[in-house]
Amino acid sequence: MKILVVGGGGREHALIWKLSQSNKIEQIFCAPGNAGITSLATCVPIDADDIERLVEFARNENIDLTIVGPEDPLAAGIVDAFEAAELKIFGPNRAAAEIEGSKTFCKNLLKKYEIPTGDSASFDNLDDAIEYVYKKGAPIVVKADGLAAGKGVVVAQTVEEAEDAINKIMRRRAYGDAGKKIIIEEFLEGEEASFLVFTDGDIVVPMVTSQDHKPVFDDDKGPNTGGMGAYSPAPVISEGLFRRIMNDIMIPTVKAMAAEGCKYRGILYAGLMIKDGIPKVLEFNARFGDPETQPILMRLKSDLLPILEACISGHLAKTIVEWDERPTVCVAMASGGYPGEYENGQIISGLNLAGRLKDVMVFHAGTAKNEDDKVITNGGRVLGVTAIGDDIPQAINKAYHAVSKISWEGAHFRNDIGRKALKRI
Ligand SMILES: Nc1ncnc2c1ncn2[C@@H]1O[C@H](COP(=O)(O)OP(=O)(O)O)[C@@H](O)[C@H]1O
Ligand SMILES: [Mg+2]
Repeated sequence: MKILVVGGGGREHALIWKLSQSNKIEQIFCAPGNAGITSLATCVPIDADDIERLVEFARNENIDLTIVGPEDPLAAGIVDAFEAAELKIFGPNRAAAEIEGSKTFCKNLLKKYEIPTGDSASFDNLDDAIEYVYKKGAPIVVKADGLAAGKGVVVAQTVEEAEDAINKIMRRRAYGDAGKKIIIEEFLEGEEASFLVFTDGDIVVPMVTSQDHKPVFDDDKGPNTGGMGAYSPAPVISEGLFRRIMNDIMIPTVKAMAAEGCKYRGILYAGLMIKDGIPKVLEFNARFGDPETQPILMRLKSDLLPILEACISGHLAKTIVEWDERPTVCVAMASGGYPGEYENGQIISGLNLAGRLKDVMVFHAGTAKNEDDKVITNGGRVLGVTAIGDDIPQAINKAYHAVSKISWEGAHFRNDIGRKALKRI
């Protein structure tokens, strides 16, 4: 088979690394890819959002299956466009991807089907939103309704801060049309976890649990990022809680989407807040998480390809999905200044040394090659150094040992990835 993977981050490198182990696949293409992906796939310089050219490429190259990494093309209807061209593609269509593309759509669905989530109200009028914030008081959470690349959420400690956020998102349109509508949510306390499932629209197969680390500095300090690391499993999700999340959240949501006439096929990813053993939905994503995919796929023992195909064909009930018991840890290495301004083009050293270590995978995110074929930084999050170990402490040590081999000017990373899990074992 010939496969096309759309995207070019750490998530896509992990997907391609896993897919490249399938004996059913002859060739993998990636659009646009990164420097790490070039060793496993043919990278083609087409942007992940350029749906028209991606359809054309898939048609010309006789691609058998296209797999979409990021959310933007899904929300823009890449699946609908491929299906209209009779090309096989993995992911939810535009209507189903609304579950991520509009936080109001998601909240309305959750409320209608009584799936556990916090209180909220949506507004398309600025003054009403501000009035609501003053009525409710702080802390309170202000979110742009649409896709804002993880930047459209402000957890406000004061009503003034919430008002500023509303003005930024709705009046000044800091995130463009994503801020046409705004959603204001009750602040939920607790510990976060990511819960991802495969679904064919009917059957729901859970992946192993994971936990992301959003803030840039140790101990969850500083501004939010795309994710500074992740580990799997997340011990905060006990066996009982795992079942409860499946029965009260994941299965009902997939059923609800079908009942609403937008059958959901693909990866459904719940961002959860857990307090006193009770899970509530913060949001849904319509795709694999980044960086959670890196530690999750390192634990997948089964071939990924038949699972993805079964999600499309509706045969997930008959598909085997086996996981490695051993935990994994992924440490993101970022460019100096990230999540603020940063410079691209720093030469990265130590990649070969780290890559040769046992039980370690160095997944590339923002990397490229310069004229001398040297790997350079080309984005905020640069690498996801991922390791598997017999237990969490060992996985942490192996990941950080690999990190210690890699350097470039300004590189930074969190030193405490996995520490939260240690507290629970
Ligand atoms: N209701 C809430 N209460 C407390 N924290 C929240 C709430 N909603 C979001 N957050 C925090 O903000 C982060 C981003 O919010 P999320 O809804 O996941 O948006 P996105 O991932 O699209 O930016 C969450 O991971 C969580 O840390
Ligand atoms: Mg989120």
